Amino acid sequence: MLELPENDAHGTRPENKLQEALGYTEPIFNASMAGAAGGSLAAAVSVAGGFGMLGIGGSSTKEWIDQEASLAASTGHSWGAGLMAWVLAKNLDPLEQVLAHGPSFICVSFGDPGPAASLAHEAGVMVGMQVGNAAELARALEDDIDVVICRGNEGGGHGRNEVSTLPLLQLALQQTAKPVIAAGGLATAAGVAAVLGAGAAAAWIGTRFAAATESMSHANVKEAIGTAGMDDTIYTRAFDIAQRIDWPVEYGGRALRNDFSDTWAADLEKLGEAVASSDALTDSINEARTKADTSLAPVFAGQAAGLSRTGQSAAQIMADLAGFREVLDRSARRWRL
Ligand SMILES: Cc1cc2nc3c(=O)[nH]c(=O)nc-3n(C[C@H](O)[C@H](O)[C@H](O)COP(=O)(O)O)c2cc1C
Repeated sequence: MLELPENDAHGTRPENKLQEALGYTEPIFNASMAGAAGGSLAAAVSVAGGFGMLGIGGSSTKEWIDQEASLAASTGHSWGAGLMAWVLAKNLDPLEQVLAHGPSFICVSFGDPGPAASLAHEAGVMVGMQVGNAAELARALEDDIDVVICRGNEGGGHGRNEVSTLPLLQLALQQTAKPVIAAGGLATAAGVAAVLGAGAAAAWIGTRFAAATESMSHANVKEAIGTAGMDDTIYTRAFDIAQRIDWPVEYGGRALRNDFSDTWAADLEKLGEAVASSDALTDSINEARTKADTSLAPVFAGQAAGLSRTGQSAAQIMADLAGFREVLDRSARRWRL
């Protein structure tokens, strides 16, 4: 497996070791986001100095993986991919398919990462896991996970709704010398500075990159994210129930509130009954997704939607986030005794 460089005589911090191992110059990963993070976004983030990630979802085909992984790999920079453990529990093929394209890093989240981690390590690839509570953090401290990604419940897309980013990050930094990446609610140079200042190895950013020009998301979805306020999101399983997607119940999703969630999120039992008795709701939400009708279709996004804009390229977002250095400098000067 891809080894982290040993501590040197000056006590190289784990965050620096991750940078050496993965070769990025900016400590910023675009989050693996099914439906948004394809090869174009991953490539653009890597070329801008960050670490580009593909998001591989439950319905990603081999053709899609081959095409998007080839694009991510085409820049000559290192890149990675995120996959869902509960999907891989049925079949490890998507992981084998992406490993064939030579990623440097794999993130396995939402379920038992063990079998996928073994396969990735056999291929010499470093393995990370997103964690959303203390029990998942404890699992990520076992030997088969190299990098811990603390994902707070303010984050967009699926995950747990238990702990927010900063408490989880502080706990992880107390408990492990492994590299720890912070995720959830980060969208500006100040946010990146906050987690790097605390000791995170990098920031993992989803929602803001979902609105980037290179994101695969539909223009209507990007527009909805760009115009949403910070308090316009809801954490719910309603969209998954309506679409009959069998996400484990502990992983709901944070999405923009819309007419569909306003109608159903407060009564999931009634929604379950409606979906069980007729195809009408499932058909209507699938049609809304096809048409990118954001009043009904899920727009997965976190509280950082309130800090995100449309019409920016990944390079522009990266340049903006790179301002974390000035934020850290200013803060260090202000508080130096
Ligand atoms: C549109 C969208 C799709 C996502 N899809 C995935 C996914 O396929 N796999 C995954 O591990 N995480 C997924 N996530 C969660 C992200 O990896 C990450 O935890 C989250 O975006 C971080 O919070 P932020 O959105 O506030 O930056 C998704 C997030 C969003 C916004």
